Amino acid sequence: MPTVLVTGASRGIGLEFVRQYAADGWRVLACVRSPQRATDLQQLAEQSAGQVTVHALDVEDHASIDALATALSAEPIDVLINSAGTMGAGSFAREGRAFGKFGNSDFADWERVYRINVIGPMKMAEAFVGHVARSSQKKIVTLTSILGSIGRNSIGGLYAYRASKAAVNAVMRSMSIDLASAQGIAATTMHPGWVRTDMGGPRADIDVVTSVSGMRRVIDGLTTENAGRFWMYDGSKLPW
Ligand SMILES: NC(=O)c1ccc[n+]([C@@H]2O[C@H](COP(=O)([O-])OP(=O)(O)OC[C@H]3O[C@@H](n4cnc5c(N)ncnc54)[C@H](OP(=O)(O)O)[C@@H]3O)[C@@H](O)[C@H]2O)c1
Repeated sequence: MPTVLVTGASRGIGLEFVRQYAADGWRVLACVRSPQRATDLQQLAEQSAGQVTVHALDVEDHASIDALATALSAEPIDVLINSAGTMGAGSFAREGRAFGKFGNSDFADWERVYRINVIGPMKMAEAFVGHVARSSQKKIVTLTSILGSIGRNSIGGLYAYRASKAAVNAVMRSMSIDLASAQGIAATTMHPGWVRTDMGGPRADIDVVTSVSGMRRVIDGLTTENAGRFWMYDGSKLPW
């Protein structure tokens, strides 16, 4: 039975990854900041007879990442999914284009967005690379956003979030090159679509089931040859 580790598994896209992989018989290591508050996930885990386990992990807290990597040292991890993410203070869904406008920067918030969206996936990969290398499938996937595409940015705004996703694209591109040759690991970024979650808001294009089913198909077909691209959930590719 393959194993997947998912960060940000309390809600939204991360929780749906847990649901779908568990339904397919995978072992799921579901990581959340606050296990007590993740009631939907806890319910899933309780019904799974040990197939889904819940782990405390804050991607801003590197000691918690190292502690989990040590606690799971016996587990090969076939697919590591960095789903945890933030848009930072405010909400695109609520405030539309006014959110993240020039002249409104909160730089403490910028730093937090970078810690979660950029440094978090890098630290996760460094901490768990050995677990992934010991697995059969050997894949690392980080959720990025079309808002991180420089080529597709025609409306401006959302500085911190856009910059963080462009940065994590660069991180994953380098990782795809370095880990393919050294360890046979396929590493990539993936845009989940505009999805109806707390982050995407109720007017988004697609539901979590469509997004995650599509991404799982792309992940299934991921190899060291086609990794390191800006994949879209439906299998098409976006410009950097
Ligand atoms: N929804 C969209 O339309 C959309 C579009 C493009 C890209 N994305 C990307 O897809 C990913 C998932 O988005 P989503 O829509 O599922 O977002 P969401 O509904 O807002 O959920 C965000 C998740 O990230 C977790 N998280 C935030 N900070 C964390 C931290 N420091 N440590 C650990 N977990 C943390 C949250 O945990 P708590 O419950 O503890 O807060 C929650 O589980 C993100 O990377 C996002 O940027 C989403």
